[in-house]
Amino acid sequence: MSKKIRIYEVGPRDGLQNEVVRLTPNLRIQFIKKLIASGVRHIETGAFVSEKWVPQMAGSAKISKKMASLKAQGNIPKDVKLCALVPNSYGMKLALASDVEEVAVFGAASESFSKMNINCSIDESLERFKQVADEAKKNKIRVRAYLSTVFGCPFEGEVSEAKVVKLTEKMLELGAYEVSLGDTIGVADPKQVERILKKIEKRISLKKIAMHFHDTRGTGLANVIMSLQMGITSFDSSLGGLGGCPYAPAATGNIATEDLVYTLHRMGYSTGIELSELIKINHWMAKHVKRSLPSKLGAAGIPKRVPVKKRKL
Ligand code: HMG
Ligand code: MG
Repeated sequence: MSKKIRIYEVGPRDGLQNEVVRLTPNLRIQFIKKLIASGVRHIETGAFVSEKWVPQMAGSAKISKKMASLKAQGNIPKDVKLCALVPNSYGMKLALASDVEEVAVFGAASESFSKMNINCSIDESLERFKQVADEAKKNKIRVRAYLSTVFGCPFEGEVSEAKVVKLTEKMLELGAYEVSLGDTIGVADPKQVERILKKIEKRISLKKIAMHFHDTRGTGLANVIMSLQMGITSFDSSLGGLGGCPYAPAATGNIATEDLVYTLHRMGYSTGIELSELIKINHWMAKHVKRSLPSKLGAAGIPKRVPVKKRKL
């Protein structure tokens, strides 16, 4: 049997939070339904953050409520797991009122990025996450965690690897079932990925680590391959390669889900996702965001044999 890799689709959140065209909650619900129909089983549906800071995520409550009711009615497979981003207890209240089943807290390994993104220091953010995690535990909701700027910070440059390990441990201690290590501005290279994962695995099982690569400088898939070799089996990606953090200068999209799935399937891994359906969603989404998406597979398609034609000069 081929080894199963977990794809955690962040398109409806990370993908859309930086788009110029703002999609309505109804369109975002259609997007999520299409992803589920293609076989995607882990999806981040939105963010309970300030609409003043990230207007693209307005209406996330409506999306969570609708998806929860579809699931309760049996219109969505039981193994589909839906998650939403939550920065503080204010966001957690809104998330609970919207019937979320999983929340993701998000912190950073560099002070300047923490301040820019969530307007507080790293220590303050850990206090906030503790409140969110305690509330989640009371309500039997799973908590995932992100650690941003693991491979480099747009404001500080190099980031302490010891700090990355310490904060990853801290987030697990607070109750996260998994920490997703973010290359927020897409600067990582495979050797750096190997070095950091080697440091982490001395203290933490890599089963509790996911990788979140932005493909800003074209190293995203190479970083995935190195992570696979190190034993990582959980990856975040975004349909079409949509995305970027509004508070990370020059950050572009995540690795594209279809490029990731293509690579994994060719290498003999399984994901449970139908690649041809992802390509259809790519073309559907491109019309709505009014631009072609960066994914390679969206442009080239799945390889197929074409009839030989007579050469013409
Ligand atoms: P703040 O302004 O510092 O909060 O925002 P505050 O406590 O001072 O409150 C100010 C106002 O915000 C108040 O309203 C609060 O009620 C309201 P006002 O009195 O002015 O009308 N407020 C909220 N509203 C909605 N939802 C909330 C909330 N909390 C307070 N949860 C906050 C703090 C974190 C909310 C703000 O800084 C924010 O929304 N930041 C946006 C962060 C964000 O979404 N960034 C992008 C996602 S992270 C990312 O992309 C990285 C990742 O992909 C991994 C990677 O790539 O590395 C995850
Ligand atoms: Mg991201």
